[in-house]
Amino acid sequence: MTQKTWTAVDNYVSEMLVPSDKALDAALEASADSGLPEIAVAPNQGKFLMLLAKSIKARNILEIGTLGGYSTIWLARALPAGGRVVTLEAVARHAEVARANFERAGLASIIDLRLGEAIDTLPKLAAEKPAPFDFIFIDADKENIPDYFTWSLKLARTGSMIIIDNVIRDGEVINAKSRDPSVKGVRRFNEMLKAEKRVSATSVQTVGVKGYDGFTLALVTSEA
Ligand code: SAH
Ligand code: DHB
Ligand code: MG
Repeated sequence: MTQKTWTAVDNYVSEMLVPSDKALDAALEASADSGLPEIAVAPNQGKFLMLLAKSIKARNILEIGTLGGYSTIWLARALPAGGRVVTLEAVARHAEVARANFERAGLASIIDLRLGEAIDTLPKLAAEKPAPFDFIFIDADKENIPDYFTWSLKLARTGSMIIIDNVIRDGEVINAKSRDPSVKGVRRFNEMLKAEKRVSATSVQTVGVKGYDGFTLALVTSEA
């Protein structure tokens, strides 16, 4: 059972449970037409994120790594009236495509996209003393996951849920000798998580249209 099966099963699941949706389809199409890398979450994963955020009644959502805003649109759909998503993106072209996608989806007023390196934007965001983020999706450059997680804890509250994408990396996560900066970032993050008393966390491996990877769920159980 390999990629062909994983893709076929993901397509089956999406056909059964994730009905096609104009705004989401248009976001993917515009992203592809603009030459953005095709690394957005899969439809069934996007819905999974939306359901998680909805199940904890998230009002304030933070995303690190927007790309064309596909996952952002899913997350925005979890919000009650008055909720918002702040999403951080370093590449101007990605941000431009994402903004157009938010407009088309009718979500521009509740999505606040901040252009810039996340490591610069996060302290600026914290300085605004925003309401704590209930749900945080970390999905930008993997070498900086440890820093993004540290900032996420500062921006969260007890009960916040933090999801970190792409933490299995074809199983390379267990290769202690890997020189891949993404793998090194994830491994350093896991060391941090192991020692972190304020969260309870686990990782789940996934296969699907995007290959073999996985995510970590960290629940903030107590404050600093
Ligand atoms: N969350 C998106 C996919 C994000 S892909 C989705 O599932 O639809 C990762 C994104 O992070 C890319 O757009 C990339 O440009 C952005 N990124 C990479 N390094 C970054 C950094 N240092 N700061 C902010 N964004 C960054
Ligand atoms: C990559 C980034 C992602 O966020 C993802 O889900 C898959 C791949 C990448 O940078 O290759
Ligand atoms: Mg990802």
